[in-house]
Amino acid sequence: MNLPVVGITTLVRGRLLSFITEPESADDRASYYYEDDGGLLVRDGIIEAVGDFKQVSASAGEDVEVIDHRPHLIMPGFIDAHAHMPQMQVIASYGAELLDWLNNYTFPAETEFSNAEHARRIAGHFLDTLVAHGTTTVAAYCSVHPASAEALFQAAMLREMRIVAGKVMMDRNAPGGLRDTPKSSYEDTKALIERWHGRGRLSYAITPRFAITSSPAQMEVAGALASEFPELHIQTHLSENRIEIDLANELYPDCGDYFGVYERYNLAGPKSLFGHAIHLSEREADAMSDSGSVAVFCPTSNLFLGSGLFDYQRYRKRGKPVRIATATDVGGGTNYSMLRTMDEGYKVIALSGEKLNPLAAFWQITLGNAKALSFERQIGALQRGHEADLVVLNARATPAMSIRAEKIETLAEELFLLQTLGDDRSVVETYLAGKAMKGKAVRD
Ligand code: GUN
Ligand code: ZN
Repeated sequence: MNLPVVGITTLVRGRLLSFITEPESADDRASYYYEDDGGLLVRDGIIEAVGDFKQVSASAGEDVEVIDHRPHLIMPGFIDAHAHMPQMQVIASYGAELLDWLNNYTFPAETEFSNAEHARRIAGHFLDTLVAHGTTTVAAYCSVHPASAEALFQAAMLREMRIVAGKVMMDRNAPGGLRDTPKSSYEDTKALIERWHGRGRLSYAITPRFAITSSPAQMEVAGALASEFPELHIQTHLSENRIEIDLANELYPDCGDYFGVYERYNLAGPKSLFGHAIHLSEREADAMSDSGSVAVFCPTSNLFLGSGLFDYQRYRKRGKPVRIATATDVGGGTNYSMLRTMDEGYKVIALSGEKLNPLAAFWQITLGNAKALSFERQIGALQRGHEADLVVLNARATPAMSIRAEKIETLAEELFLLQTLGDDRSVVETYLAGKAMKGKAVRD
């Protein structure tokens, strides 16, 4: 007998904030939607109605569970556009710049992901940790082992979490246990795409780690996969560190510059996410912009590894703006929180003499990153038909925040306090597809 599917309907109450366009200033009132006593009606993981609580409540009928988050702020869940699942035990490794950090800490840690049990354990912790910090979507790198991607997709499916992920392709300049081959990377990637891409909210990203660890033959393979599966994301690293750039140019002497390597192999485009992209020439910035490629700003990592200062405003304000996302880059990055990330981002931008207004910072980690990932029709806004991925924020989460909050008068000031002093303690709850998930044990 087929039983009718009974929808789960919830009415989430609180102060609603969602961006409509990129805010130009801290008082750009037209750039956002705000409801002081708002209601979000969620059915089967999708936002069905948004508005004034009393009106939404009246239209919702009787059998609705109300979850009252007043006086907290409800926003679309944060989006992290670049992080490494196998680096949970690498974060906070002392004293090295990029290439030594990879060789001394990262590659040994990633070698352990040949063990599927280890991969499953870390994958679960990774997603739960992101959720505890208010992040509801991540674009993630796995290790070279297909089992690591299996583990992450499985963990995301269990949590009904929207993620983009891929196993890294790397066939040189890495230890034996971490190298694939052009052929095996093609076959393994293709099998993972067929198994996981488009299942629920899961997306596969073709993931050549970076030019240093992929031979030209493997780059050809990555480009062939991109042609075969043009709807897929591509994620890689670009121009993070001066020594890395010199090495990339040495390894690919005929490509003109570092971004030229990815262009040569058909890896640039609107679904391509380039981690770091700090030291771009004008030619590279133009080429990124012309191709619609995304530069991913990873401030905590760029500072921690001493890589350099990403010039956010230079890329954003030039004649041909470069699309930008922001990300933690855990474990080069030093925190899972997108609040901590934007705090460091603000300081990096301040060093170039500019200020990122608080509304723009929160636009960036919600709708801005949704657009950068081409997911703006599914996530990034509190909007009818969008997936109900939410974060509930408390700007008075600690005694120090409470004291400071006494002097707050505007929404922009509240956001700036959250960004400057906030972390996972400010995240009261995180909803994935309408389900409250912060601190929930998820078993497989
Ligand atoms: N470049 C290539 N791999 C990595 C990585 O794992 N982290 C960072 N920050 N840069 C990289
Ligand atoms: Zn990275």
